Amino acid sequence: MTISRNEVAATVLAGKPTAPQPFFQAFAPVNIALCKYWGKRQHELNTPLNDSLSITLPETGSTTRISRQPTAADRDRVVFNGQSLQPGDPMHDRILAHVELFRSYAPGYFLIETDNDVATGAGLASSASGFAALTRALAGVAGIALSERELSILSRLGSGSACRSISNGFGRWHRGERVDGMDSFATFYSWRWPQLRVGVLTVAKERKPVGSREGMARTVQHSTLYRKWVDQAKHDIALLEQAIASRDFELFAATAEHNAMTMHATMLSAWPPLLYWQPQSVEALQQVWSLRKQGVGVYVTMDAGPNLKLLFLQSSAAAVGEHFPSLRVHVPFPGADAPRPLCG
Ligand code: DP6
Repeated sequence: MTISRNEVAATVLAGKPTAPQPFFQAFAPVNIALCKYWGKRQHELNTPLNDSLSITLPETGSTTRISRQPTAADRDRVVFNGQSLQPGDPMHDRILAHVELFRSYAPGYFLIETDNDVATGAGLASSASGFAALTRALAGVAGIALSERELSILSRLGSGSACRSISNGFGRWHRGERVDGMDSFATFYSWRWPQLRVGVLTVAKERKPVGSREGMARTVQHSTLYRKWVDQAKHDIALLEQAIASRDFELFAATAEHNAMTMHATMLSAWPPLLYWQPQSVEALQQVWSLRKQGVGVYVTMDAGPNLKLLFLQSSAAAVGEHFPSLRVHVPFPGADAPRPLCG
């Protein structure tokens, strides 16, 4: 039995009071997976084969504004980072497919404007923040109040990892078992770790040639290592939870690095092989490993792209920053400086 995205959305939204608004703006943060989501059990609904665990960067993400255009002469329009997208553009069509989930709840046409703080399609989690912000903005413009769980389920329909961008902090996406994916959503931990730092090292800004969607499908189908991956992910989540609860940085960061390297190994063992790294990625990786050998507590995680995310504590920030001057350092738990609030 296959259930469509529209059917899932209709179930979530059924019977909710609506109060359509002329305009709504929402923000959602990017999230960096420490135990990765790699492989789907159901493509249409983006339900995963393994649980994943992430951290948000609360001040970096996507801002989406939706204005309702009530005249018949209008049509839906998508403006992305200030540029108008045309029908047929994959991003345009994916965004409008998501808009369709809410169509009957807010009449008229939509002008959808999204601004991303990060490069798109370069492994910097822009689709996660993008679809989480879009879901919040659509719910807002329809005037529908949704719980965190409902927002997470609906965001997942746009992009799997988006379900982990609907709140801040450490989040765990439960893979769920149900065919309709109603038990596949993220929950957020109350743990905070003020000393933790995530440094984004951008070595290439080009769009990746193979999107994560296709990359996952190819790996699940053709990688001989893939079955092992699901077991390792389970093990890694348990270790990460233990490490975060006890603030054991070495265990935390080494588990995240090992998890990322294992995911990339499954990609390499797919056929045709998948390698998202560029020569600059390998060079930077080796620098991280060499710095670590010199006693600096720095580890790395990488997604489906050439860029690196470095994990370290505030106490190592000077040494890491000195070695990587272009590093953009994020503070996942800004403490007294409140993070940009999520609206919607
Ligand atoms: C490597 O969420 O972009 O970043 O569900 O097909 O939209 P779709 O995939 P997406 O995949 C993200 C994969 C990853 C790991 C992760 O974020 O967990």
